[in-house]
Amino acid sequence: MTTASAPGKVILFGEHAVVSGTPALGSAINLRARVIVEDLPGRLEIEACNLMLRGFSLDLTTGRVSSPGVLDAIKYVSAVLKEFHADGLRVKVDSDIPPAAGLGSSAAIVVATMAALNKHMSLGLSREEIASSSYKIEKTVQQGMSSPMDTAVSTFGGYQLVSETVHGIDLPEMHIVVGCTEKEHNTRSEIQKVQSLRSRYPDIVEPIFCAIGAISTRAVPLIRDNRLEELGHLMNFNQGLLEALGVGTRELSELVYAARGAGHSLGAKLTGAGGGGCMIALPSTAGSLSILVALEQARGTAFEVKTGGAGMRLET
Ligand code: MEV
Repeated sequence: MTTASAPGKVILFGEHAVVSGTPALGSAINLRARVIVEDLPGRLEIEACNLMLRGFSLDLTTGRVSSPGVLDAIKYVSAVLKEFHADGLRVKVDSDIPPAAGLGSSAAIVVATMAALNKHMSLGLSREEIASSSYKIEKTVQQGMSSPMDTAVSTFGGYQLVSETVHGIDLPEMHIVVGCTEKEHNTRSEIQKVQSLRSRYPDIVEPIFCAIGAISTRAVPLIRDNRLEELGHLMNFNQGLLEALGVGTRELSELVYAARGAGHSLGAKLTGAGGGGCMIALPSTAGSLSILVALEQARGTAFEVKTGGAGMRLET
């Protein structure tokens, strides 16, 4: 039996623009997906255990059960099994990362599955090879456009500055508040929406991407030097530009404004693809409590995460 785990992520700055090669800064968080692989001669089974499900429905006419988190997890795990011609195995997945929320749950499942298979089947893949194969698989399952952000952060952990290339950066841990709307999002359709705006209005969208890239680059020394007030301003700038790209929603804005209006909040923005999912807020050193309360009062689900966590690893 082999167990591996991999972290979820927050994109601190630069989502969407990164799909066109502009710098974005992401970080691993202390929520993880775990995958156990064990021998099951003659069979191949995937078992999804606790996946932080938020939606579940039963169609009484067809008897079909629909739960996007479970279906997505199974889709991603089976893509990895197929890639490595795996057989005679049971794969069990569980995860603390809310699915379809912009927190990198599918990348974490792909990376953890690959890390467990790598050991169990003695595939001999390096960490770099796991990152690039995971990216390839995530991109295939999402049918096309995406950046290496989620799979790189999940594989290597810490902070990753992603453009056309991926660079790990050594930065201190931060506490970030996450607020989730009830609305799951579809990463692929949000990316498509932004990319078609870019084709239609390149003279408007390219400068927005460029400004977003400048924000990501400026954020790095601010985190290093603990200049959190300025970092909060950059989050607010980035949120305005994401709104201009059309990936904001009323529910996300309500959480962003609730967080900004709370005491001890330095800035807030959506994180990930938008169109639903989650936002993040940066608390001052006085703590997160007032932001957590404000987000819950605005009908969000709120929790605190730590940035800069460990990447994929084998568990004993
Ligand atoms: C999704 O978490 C972030 C996007 O930038 C897409 C990607 O980077 O793959 C929207």
